[in-house]
Amino acid sequence: MAKSAKWLAEVEEEFDFGLDLVDEFDALLVNVTSEEEKLAALGKFPAKLHARKVAAELSSQHEVSSGLIYLSGEPSLTYEDSDQAPPFRQRRYFYYLSGANFADCAVTYDIKTDHLVLWIPYIEPRKVLWYGFTPGPEECRAKSDVDDVRYIDGMKEYIAQRLLYGSADTLYLLHANHAPPLSADTRPKVRIDASSLRPCMDAARVVKSDYEVAMIRKANAVSSAAHRRAAELLSTFKNEREIEAVFRSTCALRGAKNQAYPVIAGSGENAATLHYEDNDEDLKGRQLVVIDAGCEWDCYASDVTRTLPISGRFSDEAAEIYTLVDKMQRECISAVRPGVLYYKLHLHAAAVALVGLMRLGILGNGTVGQIWSAGTIAAFFPHGLGHHIGLEVHDVTGRDRLLLLEGGESDGDAKDTSATDGRQRLEKNMIVTIEPGIYFCREYIEGYVLKTEPHCRYINKDMLEKYYPVGGVRIEDDILVTEDGYENLTDAPKGEELFRIINGKA
Ligand code: GLY
Ligand code: MN
Ligand code: MN
Repeated sequence: MAKSAKWLAEVEEEFDFGLDLVDEFDALLVNVTSEEEKLAALGKFPAKLHARKVAAELSSQHEVSSGLIYLSGEPSLTYEDSDQAPPFRQRRYFYYLSGANFADCAVTYDIKTDHLVLWIPYIEPRKVLWYGFTPGPEECRAKSDVDDVRYIDGMKEYIAQRLLYGSADTLYLLHANHAPPLSADTRPKVRIDASSLRPCMDAARVVKSDYEVAMIRKANAVSSAAHRRAAELLSTFKNEREIEAVFRSTCALRGAKNQAYPVIAGSGENAATLHYEDNDEDLKGRQLVVIDAGCEWDCYASDVTRTLPISGRFSDEAAEIYTLVDKMQRECISAVRPGVLYYKLHLHAAAVALVGLMRLGILGNGTVGQIWSAGTIAAFFPHGLGHHIGLEVHDVTGRDRLLLLEGGESDGDAKDTSATDGRQRLEKNMIVTIEPGIYFCREYIEGYVLKTEPHCRYINKDMLEKYYPVGGVRIEDDILVTEDGYENLTDAPKGEELFRIINGKA
């Protein structure tokens, strides 16, 4: 058997295409009241737990047992030549160790004495008139379990004392240009390490604490409600921008003012642009709309995509593609559990897509093995199956890569390979998206793919004319890896439930 065909057989064997699909919805409907209670019961932001996780990584990766970790938060900024500020966005590594979501703070963690201090700005009363208070020490202590909260004016002296006379010998920074203010006599005596910290923080961040899981669960509950609302109102919308407006306002009304990334509401052929953000075209005459939108809850992201038939009913071609993407997603989700190589899920999705597009006659003129090993499926499934989600929508991956492709090619390239080195296995309390998609981007396919051997041989150009107006279909959920399987954190309606809502029959 050719190497490529062998791979496909292995993929099929491991993730049987005929899996009995679990019904994700039954067990997972979120009860809003109990969710609020659970959030309240969570208590403080676990900055100390996070700091200890980072210290454990520094210890196991670099045998570090002492030193001072220093992270600065986002400074207050104004636009160039303006007195106006961009929307505030806290630095994520800083937030992870502090739980403080306002400007001009810093955090220090003395590894040996296990002492975590949040440094906050003092706001003079005359400035309060203009911008109000930022949280003071009491408020910060109530929100986060840091050991101490102090005004930042005292930090320079504290750091000098720790480094010159305390148990800390080295200053651990995220970036070389993120050093704290150091007195002239301290600077020459300090050893600065700006390379060890980030990989250790990434390794800590990639496995979520229970508090973080609760935040991402809450962000998903809000986003799911907003997707539901958009579906309920779809028949009243005339333009993509109305979808964005309803999505954002529904999130804001439920307490989530910030989106984790720009809303994508791409109708018709706009659905084939992966990061379409214009959201200002009329829906009339379009077959479907891809809505990729997710809010943040206390800096933690959600990332949810639904594809909706604008008239309430898909065209035959759109229905075929929706059914195929739905199969890709369901089979991959149902295979999530600790120990699974995420890359294999990606390959499984690609294999389902390949077989499906061959059945539809869009791909052909070769065997499954030939077309698989050519990687032609990437013309239609051009991105990776998903990514980690956390403080960033595309969150850190830790030591290994979730999707590592041969030759540094794009994450969506399903090249034939059996290498697993550097590829990540899923662990309990990781949260990943599963977001297969199939797209018909005329410019990409005609301007690039069809001009490239051997892909042009395997694609039926006449057939494509029927599918270009579909645009694309993507379905995306956020999946928590549990002890022995998974929990789908996203309960935005999809499939038959979604179609009933759009048609006012729910
Ligand atoms: N919304 C960005 C993504 O799905 O990765
Ligand atoms: Mn995503
Ligand atoms: Mn998305």
